[in-house]
Amino acid sequence: MSRPVLRPFEEADLPAAAGLLAQRHGAHRKRHPLLPADYEDERLALVEVTAVWESEGASGAVLAEEGELTGYLLAAPKPAPMWGPNVWVEAAGHAVREPEHIRDLYGAAAAQWVDAGRTAHYVLVPDDAELVDAWFRLGFGSQHAHAIRPVPSGVVAPPRDLVVRRAARADIPVLAELDLVLPRHQGRSPVFSAGEPGTYEEAVADWEESIDDPGYATFVAVHNGEVIGSSVGCSLDRSSAHSGLAKPDNAGFLGFAAVLPAARGLGAGRALGEAVLQWSTETGYTSVVTDWRVTNLLSSRAWPRLGFRQTFHRLHRLIGY
Ligand SMILES: CC(C)(COP(=O)(O)OP(=O)(O)OC[C@H]1O[C@@H](n2cnc3c(N)ncnc32)[C@H](O)[C@@H]1OP(=O)(O)O)[C@@H](O)C(=O)NCCC(=O)NCCS
Repeated sequence: MSRPVLRPFEEADLPAAAGLLAQRHGAHRKRHPLLPADYEDERLALVEVTAVWESEGASGAVLAEEGELTGYLLAAPKPAPMWGPNVWVEAAGHAVREPEHIRDLYGAAAAQWVDAGRTAHYVLVPDDAELVDAWFRLGFGSQHAHAIRPVPSGVVAPPRDLVVRRAARADIPVLAELDLVLPRHQGRSPVFSAGEPGTYEEAVADWEESIDDPGYATFVAVHNGEVIGSSVGCSLDRSSAHSGLAKPDNAGFLGFAAVLPAARGLGAGRALGEAVLQWSTETGYTSVVTDWRVTNLLSSRAWPRLGFRQTFHRLHRLIGY
């Protein structure tokens, strides 16, 4: 038997890479049938791998065994400075017949990324335990969760001391205050997110402009006559964080929720999440998607309780220390 061969990814590898990606996605959909069926078709998987290959600065490696491609890895930098000197492996950027081989592919591809000063590495990995384990044994850790659930069929009433209603223009001051709750929370330990919180005045100006946008459903939770929390639902099409294989068809998106610190634990977060789920059913969506920082001790516990199941792990590795 000839030894596996590792070499740089070339354009001619695209069709075989698409075949591997379609297979990986088919196995992934057995666990999550709500993920988009299209990419089980090699021709549509090819569109996704080609998009990664054509991204500016893309590079990677392939593994061939007895002349047949059995794995590939492709990454490209993102221009956003908040991710550091980065390269990203998107959902369509890797597929291997044997999970262990992702380690060989990374070994072959990462040298040039690091030589170019790109030391912050990110990868979107399906919730395949063996594949996640192989990435963990490359020094990666879990940073972010993508999750999905079907829309609910019944209505869940909020606790008796809470009212959840659609937000109105008069709620703008408290909506703006709640907008700052999430980045402030995530700026602290143990999330330490680098995202900039923005100012109260900017948040007010955003709400003044967007409160009547019919594409967004904004809810507030009221306790003892005071607004204590908010949530926002919209079409998943409006989220840039979910695309391609990680973007289910006809999905709603739980895009934001926050409860004032003093009012947490009363069930308001659940009630606000349920309002977006219910709105998604009424709008005609099939599923609802959300995502969270896994180091956010609040959302990472609240959203699974609402029935969200993780589909992809975003893993992260910082080289040099
Ligand atoms: C996330 C957040 C909106 C949840 O709101 P909340 O009012 O605190 O949550 P709830 O009281 O409704 O609890 C929600 C669920 O999480 C569970 N939960 C809360 N803390 C938990 C803990 N420490 N361990 C296990 N489960 C926990 C609750 O039991 C509840 O599930 P249940 O209804 O099945 O019992 C709120 O904590 C918050 O604003 N966090 C900061 C901003 C943020 O992270 N927003 C989310 C953006 S992705």
